[in-house]
Amino acid sequence: MNETIKAILDRRSIRNFKNIPLTDEQIQTFAQVALASPTGMDRQLWIFRLVTRLDLIQAMSDHAMNVFREAGDLVTVDRMRSRHKSIFYGAPLLILIGLPKDASSNLEAGIAVENLAIAAQSMGLASCIIGMASAAFTGDRGDELKDMLDWPGTHDFAISIAIGYPNTTKEAPERHPEKLKRID
Ligand SMILES: Cc1cc2nc3c(=O)[nH]c(=O)nc-3n(C[C@H](O)[C@H](O)[C@H](O)COP(=O)(O)O)c2cc1C
Repeated sequence: MNETIKAILDRRSIRNFKNIPLTDEQIQTFAQVALASPTGMDRQLWIFRLVTRLDLIQAMSDHAMNVFREAGDLVTVDRMRSRHKSIFYGAPLLILIGLPKDASSNLEAGIAVENLAIAAQSMGLASCIIGMASAAFTGDRGDELKDMLDWPGTHDFAISIAIGYPNTTKEAPERHPEKLKRID
């Protein structure tokens, strides 16, 4: 099996990362991978923020948890508490992807985030795609956090991905072959 297919099949959402920073070279690779993602008519309307500041990553997580708590979403609060003290699971790199506010879909952010996930896997790293980070951009601290990320007012958060060295393993989820049909 070729290495790319192996990386796709072996990728798992990892929810506990080692406290080991990534090198500049690794981060540069993710920057290249992000910017190489295909977009419709090559418009490249997304923005990326590659965040290694652990205090900022934790502040985003703490604020997101407060937003869930204040919204009375105790199911999410309890689930996250049982997993890790951060919704980013201690990752040393968080990549946030934004799309123009009037984007008709999140498709191009999804394509970029999967590129990053497969790249991480191929580099001996692990990842977890994190949609719930959207909560960090709402509530009373949302704008302040956007400012700290130099986030433009023209774009909304679309998706994020936490990347680092895995501190745990995970089995593959059940697959559903009945969802797929070959039409020959
Ligand atoms: C769009 C999207 C959003 C996700 N958001 C979260 C999230 O906020 N927190 C989390 O722990 N996992 C999140 N995940 C990971 C999924 O739960 C995970 O991909 C799924 O359970 C399948 O497991 P696997 O990635 O190990 O194959 C997200 C995945 C996707 C594709």
